[in-house]
Amino acid sequence: MPKKYVIANFKMNKTDSEVAKYIDEFKPLIEKSSCQIVLSVPYVSIKTAVEKVSDSNITIAGQNLNENDFGAFTGEVNAEMLTAVGAQACIVGHSERRSKFNETDELINKKIMKGLRDGLICVLCIGETLFDKKNQKTEQVLKQQITKCLNSIYANELNHIVIAYEPVWAIGTGISATTDEIAQAISLIRKMLSNLYDADIASKVAIVYGGSINEENIKDIARLDDVDGVLVGGASLDPMSFSKIVLAFDDEERTNDKKTKKRVLKK
Ligand code: PGA
Repeated sequence: MPKKYVIANFKMNKTDSEVAKYIDEFKPLIEKSSCQIVLSVPYVSIKTAVEKVSDSNITIAGQNLNENDFGAFTGEVNAEMLTAVGAQACIVGHSERRSKFNETDELINKKIMKGLRDGLICVLCIGETLFDKKNQKTEQVLKQQITKCLNSIYANELNHIVIAYEPVWAIGTGISATTDEIAQAISLIRKMLSNLYDADIASKVAIVYGGSINEENIKDIARLDDVDGVLVGGASLDPMSFSKIVLAFDDEERTNDKKTKKRVLKK
């Protein structure tokens, strides 16, 4: 079974020493996990974080990247700079970047191309707003985001892309999407990928859910077959809470193993 992605998004939280302390506390809690754990930390802490996780199953990611090569872009960081300090992945197109920094699907597409070219796994965030949802526009919005953000991305590059379905109304609100809503959206996204590429390719793309995940609701979300993991904001800031979210996937895997064994024994 492919590994489940459990991705933390620290956003603009934690100083460098706080990130270091977090990792010291977090590592022993998840050392037996079989998940692909990713910590998206502020740029200035990537190097510290990479050093701290070197002997663990955790990888480090950026939260954004600039689509250009080197040059006169004051305040920006490109993919090459991220990989040079050991980041292996990067969040791209988070709804906060879209709404607060005016990022468009076209720009996000350029960022993905640059990230992929420089060897980063890109975590592409998509999702509808409450307005879209109320106006039954979810499908249309997701389709537009996927089509535009993945424009000119080849099928063989999709194994370096994780799609994060993050309904904007669920981010930081304490109102997670229901398991039915998550399952429905992910199946819709697979169908769209299948139309853009083909069914086999679509079935292999990692699609995760994000939006108000916590220690409680993760238990039901981890049970959804078609969900390849989660992207966690608020609840990732506390190492204990985040470790429980990670371990929910390991618990689920053990339960499935037992069920499979029982089925085999019965035969
Ligand atoms: P949240 O954030 O878990 O705090 O809702 C998720 C995200 O912004 O990626």
